[in-house]
Amino acid sequence: MKEITLTINGNQVKGKEGDTVLDICQANGIDLPTLCHYKGLNDVGACRLCVVEIERERRPVPACTYPARDGLVIHTHNEKLEKYRRLVLELLFTERNHLCAQCVASGDCELQNLAYKYQMDNARYPYSWPALPVDSVNDYLVIDHNRCILCGRCIRTCDEIVGVHTLDFGYRGWKDMVVADLNQPLGQSSCISCGACFQVCPTGAIFSKNSAYKGRPEECKKVNSVCPVCGVGCQIEALVKDNRLVRIDSPDLTDKRGILCHKGRFAPLYRKHERIDTALVKNGRGKLESRPLSEAIDIVAKRLAELKSRYGNNSIAGIASSQASNESLKAFKEFITGTIGSKLIDTLDGDIYRATAQGINIYQEKAGLDTETLLEEILKADCILVVGANPLESHPVAGSYIARAARQNKAKLIVIDPAQNAFSYHTALWLKPKEGKESLALSTLTKAVIDKGAKKDSAQVKKITASLKDINVKQGSEQAGIGADDLLEAAEMLSKAKYSVIIYGEGILQHKNPGLITSLLNLATIASSQGAGKPRIISLKPKGNSRGAWDMGIAHTSQSIMKNLTGNNVKALYILLSDDYVNASQLPNLGKGLEFVVVQSSYLSSAMSKANVVLPSPIWAEVGEKYSTLDGVAKSTSRLIKPSDDIKADPEILREISKHMKK
Ligand code: SF4
Ligand code: SF4
Ligand code: SF4
Ligand code: FES
Repeated sequence: MKEITLTINGNQVKGKEGDTVLDICQANGIDLPTLCHYKGLNDVGACRLCVVEIERERRPVPACTYPARDGLVIHTHNEKLEKYRRLVLELLFTERNHLCAQCVASGDCELQNLAYKYQMDNARYPYSWPALPVDSVNDYLVIDHNRCILCGRCIRTCDEIVGVHTLDFGYRGWKDMVVADLNQPLGQSSCISCGACFQVCPTGAIFSKNSAYKGRPEECKKVNSVCPVCGVGCQIEALVKDNRLVRIDSPDLTDKRGILCHKGRFAPLYRKHERIDTALVKNGRGKLESRPLSEAIDIVAKRLAELKSRYGNNSIAGIASSQASNESLKAFKEFITGTIGSKLIDTLDGDIYRATAQGINIYQEKAGLDTETLLEEILKADCILVVGANPLESHPVAGSYIARAARQNKAKLIVIDPAQNAFSYHTALWLKPKEGKESLALSTLTKAVIDKGAKKDSAQVKKITASLKDINVKQGSEQAGIGADDLLEAAEMLSKAKYSVIIYGEGILQHKNPGLITSLLNLATIASSQGAGKPRIISLKPKGNSRGAWDMGIAHTSQSIMKNLTGNNVKALYILLSDDYVNASQLPNLGKGLEFVVVQSSYLSSAMSKANVVLPSPIWAEVGEKYSTLDGVAKSTSRLIKPSDDIKADPEILREISKHMKK
């Protein structure tokens, strides 16, 4: 970009062509007041606080929307401009109901800060005192229109950064108001509760129900970390006061994995399930009662050693939730396969792993999980195929990437799913195959893309083309329950795309059919042979650290251990749940033929009723550990709060039991 030179307040400063006057002022340490400007959003010049004088301009202009040019002579601070800014502030304060003493944002409000800066101890205009609504229907957020200054930051964030475009301005003139969709309450709108609008709101107009009055930012410690909840691995900045989470923000909404969803931003502030903060041991009457951790560890070690010597190593099995961190899973694997010497180890998403791994293997031996691409590729896509997934629900940030690509790149969105999902208003084409005919639908679609002229020069493309030679597109689409016209339209979109991305999720993974995964990989290979690069495919895995568990080989490769406890003659079961809330219905056969059950968990659930010993686990915010994102990126969390004294990290407890067993 060409360098330009301007004169600001008598000094020569440099900038780049394409910068605004505000960009250059900020880069050169010139402090201009702003309210509607927010880093990364398109500027609209709504608040008029950043006005500057530019020689040869008849009146002051907003610096945030004025394109900088070589040779401009600019004045940013003089009596006239300061008076103008103070006047704007007075108008903003008198237009709505700003009662700072009663406001949730007092002490953390950009409007209030500017009022102090400009010593706005009175206003020369009459207060309007409008009676405006307060929308509190959303689970986490409140919009109090009485404190809104109509800066539009929330609207632009929801559109440009989140891609959902729930918010907009409604009404006209002095009745102008931020509205959700067609003026519905936020909680009944298309809002995905990501909270980005709350983070950017400069006043107390949008606030979080569970952060209000817990502590002002300057009273809190700020800790950067990563959200490990769903496997996307979003960056977080946590505000902590008195060992309590006050608020979770994104450190930079415009950065990679910078937006959050309600699971990362709000859920950690709510305590939904009862915590286990002490070890529990079943007494003679069959009731779990509190015991010191050291005593419980001793009981577990003695019982497991006894059962191992009586029935052999493989009489003890281990099941882990892949919500646990890499450190916990590694320690668990060492404990079950090393200390105990058992081959019976699995995760709760083992079936899904087996289908995925076998499907990849049929597609191409030794291809492994690296066939998957990075989530950021979605943002570059011009055609996206979502199969058996509802990302806006299961992995909302991935869903937001898809919505952004559809809105901003005009990417064609094709959904293959018998069930409707939250993308209905972004979807270009929705294909609904009959139950059990998903594989045929995918193979027929692949054949149709080949017929449109896929490049057949790679060995893999040749192999796929040969394997589908007998498929007749018309018959195949009819048998799959999809109209041939719709299927051909989808094939047309995929074949014309320069950068297609395929995303699949639990809807297809739950069929546990490796053939479906192979069909998807075949389709991705054929679709990407039209444009550049390797097949772009992303699987939305069931738990936050599924990728870590799968990479570590915790999931059993050939059978579900939980479903085959009796077949494997298992006498003792060790279940590591960490901070995953799992109840008894998710653990089939629990109790059958078992003489001893240990559950290590953060939360009390019906699963504990079958346990002989329950050991407490910390939650992710209480330890700093490593996780692997669903697309295979290593991320580290930081400790945000301290656990209670009787809670030790999972690996520490497992090593302690190991030590006792080896005595
Ligand atoms: S939004 Fe800011 S200025 Fe308005 S009442 Fe709240 S603290 Fe005061
Ligand atoms: S919470 Fe997110 S999706 Fe909902 S209105 Fe705000 S920015 Fe939009
Ligand atoms: S709700 Fe907040 S961010 Fe949105 S327009 Fe009003 S003041 Fe600006
Ligand atoms: S920040 Fe420039 S007009 Fe609002």
